[in-house]
Amino acid sequence: MKKNIGNQFAFYPTPVIVVGALVDGRPDFTLVAHIGIVTHDAALISLNKSHYINRGIKQSGALSVNVVDESWLEKAAVAGGVSGRNADKSALFGYTPGGMGAPIIDEAKLSMECTVEDIYERGAFENFIVKVVNTFAEESILTDGGKPDYEKFKPILFEMPGYTFLKTGETLGECKSFIKNNGRN
Ligand SMILES: Cc1cc2nc3c(=O)[nH]c(=O)nc-3n(C[C@H](O)[C@H](O)[C@H](O)COP(=O)(O)O)c2cc1C
Repeated sequence: MKKNIGNQFAFYPTPVIVVGALVDGRPDFTLVAHIGIVTHDAALISLNKSHYINRGIKQSGALSVNVVDESWLEKAAVAGGVSGRNADKSALFGYTPGGMGAPIIDEAKLSMECTVEDIYERGAFENFIVKVVNTFAEESILTDGGKPDYEKFKPILFEMPGYTFLKTGETLGECKSFIKNNGRN
């Protein structure tokens, strides 16, 4: 028997990223966990309108998505605790400008350079619909075929209401094998 716990928003855990963008020509970095896949080639990044970085994203139409793993989690968390409006976060990470100028974080083993396709406003949030232009990955986290290997690269997840970070990195098996085992194929 399941207990009805009300309209608890239970879409967690979600991956943790640091978004990078130029604001008036200076890099700003913001920690974000409210992200989602919209189609196979577009994702949604939900940012409170009050954040300093939003203006920069709208100015340039570009941002970087830097997927957080444990090796730089503490530094990444700083990007979620202080606003670029009050402090210069441009020196928080090493970075390399992407083709459209968005700062790609050197510490991140996996980063994407994205263009903004659309902005969906809802309440206090600007939801940026983004398309990936380039993906940059450290060789050490790739399979022999050159794709991200999620046993080598272990993105950190975030959940509410506990407000905690969680680990990933253990493969249970190929999805196909589960579907067959349940007699569906
Ligand atoms: C774990 C964690 C997750 C966060 N996720 C989001 C998020 O999904 N959307 C958002 O608008 N702010 C989120 N924040 C808050 C921003 O990262 C924070 O307010 C930041 O200082 C804004 O920086 P800026 O003003 O320089 O853009 C999160 C903060 C933390 C600590």
